[in-house]
Amino acid sequence: MFLQRRNRILRSNPAIRAMVAETILTPADFIAPLFIDEGKNISTEIASMPNYFRRSIDGTIREVKELWDLGVRSVLLFIKCRDELKDNTGKESWNPDGLMQRSIKAIKDAVPGMYIMTDVALDPFSSFGHDGIVENGEIVNDPTVEALVKMSVSHAVAGADMVAPSDMMDGRIGAIREALEQNNFTRTGIMAYSAKYASCFYGPFRDALDSAPGFGDKKTYQMDYANRIEAVKEALMDIEEGADIVMVKPGLPYLDIVREVKNAVDVPVSVYNISGEYAMIKAAAEKGWIDEDKAIIETLTSIKRAGGDLIATYFAKDAARLLQSM
Ligand code: PBG
Repeated sequence: MFLQRRNRILRSNPAIRAMVAETILTPADFIAPLFIDEGKNISTEIASMPNYFRRSIDGTIREVKELWDLGVRSVLLFIKCRDELKDNTGKESWNPDGLMQRSIKAIKDAVPGMYIMTDVALDPFSSFGHDGIVENGEIVNDPTVEALVKMSVSHAVAGADMVAPSDMMDGRIGAIREALEQNNFTRTGIMAYSAKYASCFYGPFRDALDSAPGFGDKKTYQMDYANRIEAVKEALMDIEEGADIVMVKPGLPYLDIVREVKNAVDVPVSVYNISGEYAMIKAAAEKGWIDEDKAIIETLTSIKRAGGDLIATYFAKDAARLLQSM
C-alpha cells in the first residue's frame, strides 16, 4: 500500500506525542474551591463528594499550603454560614468579622502569594437558599445587586484578590466594578460567572454548604441549558461592565459553550468543573468502572482544549499531584 500521508507517525511513541501535544495542563491552570466552616480542627467529609472536606480555618490553611507546594496558585473560597445568621437580606455576608472575611485574612497571612478569589452570592447566607433577596416569592434583582456590592467591597477590604459573583443578577458586574473604583480597590479583579446554567449537577455543592433553595428553583436567574447564543451575550455584557475573567459553568456538559465563549471574547475564560461532575467520576471509580486518575486528567485536558484557560476543580490537588508524577 502506498500512502502519501500517515497520520499515525505523530502518534507512534510517547516522545513524539509529547512533542505535538496541543494542550498541556499545569497546576497554575487550576483554581481550588475550598469550603470553610466555623470552629477549630473541623474536617467534615461531604457525603456526596467523597474525599472532599469542609474545614475550619486552621485546616484550610494547611490545605492552602499543600496546594501552594504543588504549584496551585489560586483558591476560591466558599463559607458555610451558621443557620442563626441567615436572613433574607444576607447581611452576614458583609460582616467585617464574618467567616469569609476572617478566612481571607488568615489565608493571606499564611500564604501571601496565593491568589484569593471569593464567592459572591447570597445563597449561603439566605434563609431562603436563593442567590437573591426574596420579595413576594420573587428574587428581586436591584436590591440584590446592592447587597452583592457590599459583600464584594468587604471581601476586598479583607484582602481578596478577585471577587467571583456567582449569582446571575443583571448589572452586578458594573455595580461591583464601580464600587471597587470608588473605594480605591484598583487592583481587585472580578471573575464573572457569566454563563451559569440552572443545572442539576450543583446538587452535591448545595449539600456541602447547606444552601439548597427552600422553594422553587433558580431558573429565573440562572440560564436555560437549551441556550447557546445567550451565553455569548452574557459574557460580552460582563466584559463591558468590567469583568476581568468570564466563566462558563458547569464544565463537561457545556464544552460547546466554552468554545463559543472563548472564540467571542478577549479576556481569559474560566470553567467550573462542578460538584456533580466530581461526584460522577468519584462514584464510577468507587465502583471500579473507570480509572479515576486517568478520568481526572482526561476531563481537565478536555476542558482546557475546549477553551478553558482556568479551571475551578475539586480535583485541583489530585491533578497537580498526578501531573508531578507524569
Ligand atoms: C451558588 C453557587 C453554586 C455553585 C457555586 N456557587 C450552586 C448554585 O448555584 O446553586 C456550584 C458549584 C458546584 O456545584 O460545584 N451561588
